[in-house]
Amino acid sequence: MGRFTNESSIITPYKRHDAQGQPPMPYTPYQSTLKRSPSQPLIYLPHTLSEITGPVYGHGEIGETDNDLTRQHKEQPQGERIIVTGHVLDSNSRPVPNTLVEIWQANAAGRYLHVKDQHPAPLDPNFSGAGRTMTDENGAYRFITIKPGAYPWFNHYNAWRPAHIHFSIFGRAFLSRLVTQMYFPGDPLFAHDPIYQSIPDEKARERMIAKFDIETTQPQWALGYRFDVVIRGPVATPFET
Ligand SMILES: [Fe+2]
Repeated sequence: MGRFTNESSIITPYKRHDAQGQPPMPYTPYQSTLKRSPSQPLIYLPHTLSEITGPVYGHGEIGETDNDLTRQHKEQPQGERIIVTGHVLDSNSRPVPNTLVEIWQANAAGRYLHVKDQHPAPLDPNFSGAGRTMTDENGAYRFITIKPGAYPWFNHYNAWRPAHIHFSIFGRAFLSRLVTQMYFPGDPLFAHDPIYQSIPDEKARERMIAKFDIETTQPQWALGYRFDVVIRGPVATPFET
């Protein structure tokens, strides 16, 4: 595959994913994938200039507290305050600057502010669970939030999701968008979670786990976690199914 030139830069096509680093579709233990998986094999399209460079999203109106989920209401939310930070990288390990990173998550009790989540855990009037930010010129992003709780779901008997934060990263162009989940180290629910277990390669699975980081941790205030995301290529952070 050659390289494409536009007015301002040389654009390199994406490297393809490693199949063992991504969940198969469908993945029988995760029942919802049976309904939403393609029934025919995927067709790989060649990368042309339009897939690699566009569309270009504007920065939109990102508000002052969009990257701080603990300051979006009158009071502080309940739960353990955390800092989540890292870099967004492309398939050539280059930082991806000025890209939109969005997160959504359950509250500290494991409840989403969503009509479909009616399990018996409290909502928090001071926590919406949604945030967004742009990466800086070095591809770095940073959120302040609270650690989400584990929550039950209906996939199988006694099914519980490990605590996680959902991430969407737009990357350089439409085809590079990544939607994934960030987990916390040492969660005892990993072994029982078909979404986490759907990734065949154990090393790829571990790329979805944030690292506790004492340097990011702030005294008397918040624990820090680092979560670097690779949006494409053989060492990409796995997609969620
Ligand atoms: Fe979730």
